[in-house]
Amino acid sequence: MKTEMALITENRQIAADTWKMVLKTTIASETGCGQFVQVQVPGYFLRRPISVCRVLDEEHLVLIYKVVGDGTARMAEMSAGESVDLFGPLGHGFPIEDRDVLLIGGGVGVPPLLETAARHIKAGHHVTAVLGFNDASGIILEQQFRELGCDVYTATMDGSAGTKGTVMDAIRQNDINEEYVLSCGPLPMLKAVSNAYQKGYVSLEARMACGMGACMGCVVKDNDGESLRVCKDGPVFAIGKVVL
Ligand SMILES: Cc1cc2nc3c(=O)[nH]c(=O)nc-3n(C[C@H](O)[C@H](O)[C@H](O)COP(=O)(O)OP(=O)(O)OC[C@H]3O[C@@H](n4cnc5c(N)ncnc54)[C@H](O)[C@@H]3O)c2cc1C
Ligand code: FES
Repeated sequence: MKTEMALITENRQIAADTWKMVLKTTIASETGCGQFVQVQVPGYFLRRPISVCRVLDEEHLVLIYKVVGDGTARMAEMSAGESVDLFGPLGHGFPIEDRDVLLIGGGVGVPPLLETAARHIKAGHHVTAVLGFNDASGIILEQQFRELGCDVYTATMDGSAGTKGTVMDAIRQNDINEEYVLSCGPLPMLKAVSNAYQKGYVSLEARMACGMGACMGCVVKDNDGESLRVCKDGPVFAIGKVVL
């Protein structure tokens, strides 16, 4: 991991409240799927953790972020040609096991699954992606998963696209029987995934400060009561490891 000034080569809105930022940085060459970076937003002390959505090449990576507060709103104001201070790559990402995989993503938990899909496809595995959103205006990356060669199913809570309901409803409705799951998204979704599947991994979110395991600001408990740091021991944990 390192800090580096990264050049913004693209920063544009791609869906409701959701933006895509492409950065030129050598951090790209070291980043695995499911890892994240911390962005030093100008004017803000704490860095914002954002998952790496795609490693385009040795020098470019893609972040997809939702504007939810002041920091991400400031990020959305930045333009191509400006630079941001980037720290990463951080955390343990998704393993690439030698097997077919079901990816289950919700909202801005979907982005890190795109690089994960790309690496599984490259390894010759069959990838099914089930993507959940609140409504059609929030759908992101569906086409990019298709272009990689994944079977893609979408669910929206209001039924404006795909299955009406949750990702679990889409899995039932489409008779998806894959056993091995990699998942990232909101906590209720990860709980449902962890109740339904024994094999696989989930990626957690937590409020973070240092991002590198030093401040204990992002601690969760495992099933033996031991403390684990989401930033360093995770964000990806085996299903059943952490108390959700
Ligand atoms: C490992 C990891 C990966 C993430 N990947 C993505 C991603 O790919 N795309 C995306 O849109 N969002 C992602 N998030 C969530 C993202 O970090 C927050 O939405 C963002 O920090 C909000 O900043 P803000 O200043 O706009 O919000 P504010 O609410 O103003 O932030 C105040 C403080 O709380 C922190 N904070 C607020 N919400 C969160 C949150 N959900 N998780 C962690 N810290 C938070 C901020 O970093 C900041 O320090 C990720 C979070 C983690 C922990
Ligand atoms: S954010 Fe400091 S230990 Fe995780």
